[in-house]
Amino acid sequence: MCGIFGCVLHDGREAAPLIHAALKRLEYRGYDSVGEVTISNGTLTVKKDSGRLDEVHAKYNLDDLLGPVGVGHTRWATHGRPVKENSHPLVDCKSRIAVVHNGIIENYLDLKRELETKGHRFASRTDTEVVPHMVEEYLSHGLSLEEAFRKTINRLEGAYSIVLTSLEKPKTILCARQESPLVLGLGDGEYYCASDIAAFLPLTRKALILEEGEMAILDPDGIRILKAKNGVAVKRDAITVTWDPESAKKQGYRHFMLKEIHEQVHTIRDAMRTHEIYYDLLASKLMQSEKVFIVACGTSYHAGLVGGQALMKLAGMNVRVVVASEFSDEALDLVDSKTAILAVSQSGETMDTLNAVRDAKAKGASIVSVTNVLGSTLMRLSDVYIGQNSGPEIGVAATKTFTSQVTVLLRLAIAIGRKKGEVSSKEISELEEALHRTPALIQNLLNTRVEDVKKIAESCSGASSICFLGRGVSVPTSLEGRLKLLELSYIPAIAYPAGESKHGFIALIEEGFPTVFVAPRDETHKKIIGNIMEMKARGARIISIIEEGDEEVRNLSDDVIEIPESLPSLATPVVYVVPLQLLAYYMSVILGHDPDYPRNLAKSVTVE
Ligand code: AGP
Repeated sequence: MCGIFGCVLHDGREAAPLIHAALKRLEYRGYDSVGEVTISNGTLTVKKDSGRLDEVHAKYNLDDLLGPVGVGHTRWATHGRPVKENSHPLVDCKSRIAVVHNGIIENYLDLKRELETKGHRFASRTDTEVVPHMVEEYLSHGLSLEEAFRKTINRLEGAYSIVLTSLEKPKTILCARQESPLVLGLGDGEYYCASDIAAFLPLTRKALILEEGEMAILDPDGIRILKAKNGVAVKRDAITVTWDPESAKKQGYRHFMLKEIHEQVHTIRDAMRTHEIYYDLLASKLMQSEKVFIVACGTSYHAGLVGGQALMKLAGMNVRVVVASEFSDEALDLVDSKTAILAVSQSGETMDTLNAVRDAKAKGASIVSVTNVLGSTLMRLSDVYIGQNSGPEIGVAATKTFTSQVTVLLRLAIAIGRKKGEVSSKEISELEEALHRTPALIQNLLNTRVEDVKKIAESCSGASSICFLGRGVSVPTSLEGRLKLLELSYIPAIAYPAGESKHGFIALIEEGFPTVFVAPRDETHKKIIGNIMEMKARGARIISIIEEGDEEVRNLSDDVIEIPESLPSLATPVVYVVPLQLLAYYMSVILGHDPDYPRNLAKSVTVE
């Protein structure tokens, strides 16, 4: 997720200060590098570097860029480390075309190879840079800028919002979107484009929404919208935005956490877009090792538990999942040069995880990581890493980063499973196909089940405790549901493997004790029914997350949240966790807490 702002102003007005101010309002969308481009007197000038906006401004004085037309970008790296050459804008061979981008271009490697064979020279490792070079190539075939841009857009696969300026038409900005957001602002004879409305709200409340597969041309005469596919003009009425700047950042959601729960529809899709070559790199590293330790904390540890089960089941790997803070005491003696550490950390800065990694590295272990922050300490300690592409997560409670991590870890297990042939290719393909279905399934849940969750939240808000039970891969899902609930509602929630209940925990159960069962219809289904009956017999209130149509569990439950489709067991955490995220969110709100900033917690625990 990156922040984009572009503007076409009246002659004599300077775009740079407006761009700077807009990027400040967009920093929550990404902040590992920043850049601006303006055009003045036949010169296209770019200023950019890694670092936050204030740092880059202090270094280069972004405001002294000249000209009434310009574009700015604040980056959240997905392809290419956050270093100067990978920051946006990116230009063509002759520096006549500059482009900024938010999203993932899935087929960029093929396009890059095609352009390199035609003599284009690339300066970055980003997916974005194929765009200015492709436009340059089509211009050299005699196409107009608009046609060259449109033809380029139609070559791209994946998610993108792209904004282009060029010396070909110095008073014009071209933009296009596919999945990644882009909105247009109508000023008084001035025009803006941005990743979200917050960027230009102080300038205008009149906006035009660019829909999927559309492109727009902004110039002093106004804004034209076209269908990117065929160039047909689109008529679109402006809307008047009523949001205040803060709620504009939350895109109308009451809290960042709720926005991020809903963003999972896109972030999981982005996690599915990372090119397979990155998984091959991680797979090779892990397959060379004799044993693998997955180390992580909190929510990332729960994602690691799912990953560990997947690597064992799909790839027959000898994997142990260890809480990072216990790793050096518990397992360091087992680490040698034939050991691989798979570290999972959305921030890439969690001290416990970094300490485990450093200790293992000192003993010769290979370090592989999954992180959300390219450029983080964990990434720099890793031999190989993969970005989870979740975009910045503002809410302290991890939501979208959990489902992205699970998706990445499942894709890793699929990659290794395919290479090792431990399980049938049918089983692996079914899991991969299911992962592609999860975004739509989550969207369905968010459209149809929220009121059911709210009712359960209201009825549980007075509980003195709540427990979460599951079996198999639903154990980490239950642990994650518990963590969400306790860190947001401050109710001492409990989670157990359901089979463990009779070994002590069941003593807690009394009339009406809220007991949440994560009960997909998988290989554990029969046993979980037995566990439900154990609790029911002692008066527990049974709340079950079930597959739609599971009448057996429904008939045993006081409340159910139904998941509309069946899924292979290993894919269930990605979807079954969503009702638990919502339960925790609504209980926090009902109890009068701030879900975005729960007490005593920090977003990244950078101390031991
Ligand atoms: C989860 O909601 C918490 N915010 C916390 O447990 C978090 O998952 C943990 O601190 C690990 O953070 P990391 O993924 O950045 O390493």
